[in-house]
Amino acid sequence: MTQNAKQKSRNYFNSHRQSRLAHGGYWRHDYRYQLEAIGRIMPDRLIDIGCGPGAFLSLVEEMFPKIQLNALDLSEEMIHETKERLSNTAIATVGDAENMPLQDERYQAVTCNMSIHHYPHPQNALNEMYRILQPGGYLLLNDMDCIAPIRAAANWLFPKLPGGDVKMYRWDEIEGMVRSAGFQNIQYRKISPFSFQCIAEKAR
Ligand SMILES: C[S@@+](CC[C@H](N)C(=O)[O-])C[C@H]1O[C@@H](n2cnc3c(N)ncnc32)[C@H](O)[C@@H]1O
Repeated sequence: MTQNAKQKSRNYFNSHRQSRLAHGGYWRHDYRYQLEAIGRIMPDRLIDIGCGPGAFLSLVEEMFPKIQLNALDLSEEMIHETKERLSNTAIATVGDAENMPLQDERYQAVTCNMSIHHYPHPQNALNEMYRILQPGGYLLLNDMDCIAPIRAAANWLFPKLPGGDVKMYRWDEIEGMVRSAGFQNIQYRKISPFSFQCIAEKAR
């Protein structure tokens, strides 16, 4: 089941280069909130987990050219596209969010947009996000958040879809996992009828 979902994600996104994701998919609107938070934090080094084709990071690069950008995605093709879209100072790596090939305490901000619902073990991914953040660093997490009947329908449908979507987690599930990973000052904000933003800090 686990391997199956990851394999599906990888295959799906490997065959969807230049898809609508290249323009931010249906959730481009959400990027605004993530960009605002980045502007407040102004990290020296940021990593986007499950970066897709790099649409979000290209906006970060445009608005905040001094930030050292990094990206991680399970799909080789998404990483290829991210590299094409960003300047050559950006570092983009193929890897699994649940077991990142990245060193401890390296980044001041971790972003993750519309990717955590693909993870069969999101607690592992959040533990990894905590591990790679410097003390005092920020998690900026954005994902699906719908009323219960839509969430139930989506969760019924996800395994039948080809994209490797696993589960639309409820906010209380996400909050519990963010807290278990060690984060503090956890803030939740509903940013559209279909999505949330969570900002949390790693203790100094
Ligand atoms: C719906 S797309 C979102 C892409 C991008 N963040 C955006 O805002 O458009 C989900 C992305 O998560 C990636 N992904 C899925 N499972 C992953 C995992 N276990 N580790 C890293 N990336 C993963 C997929 O390859 C895909 O690029």
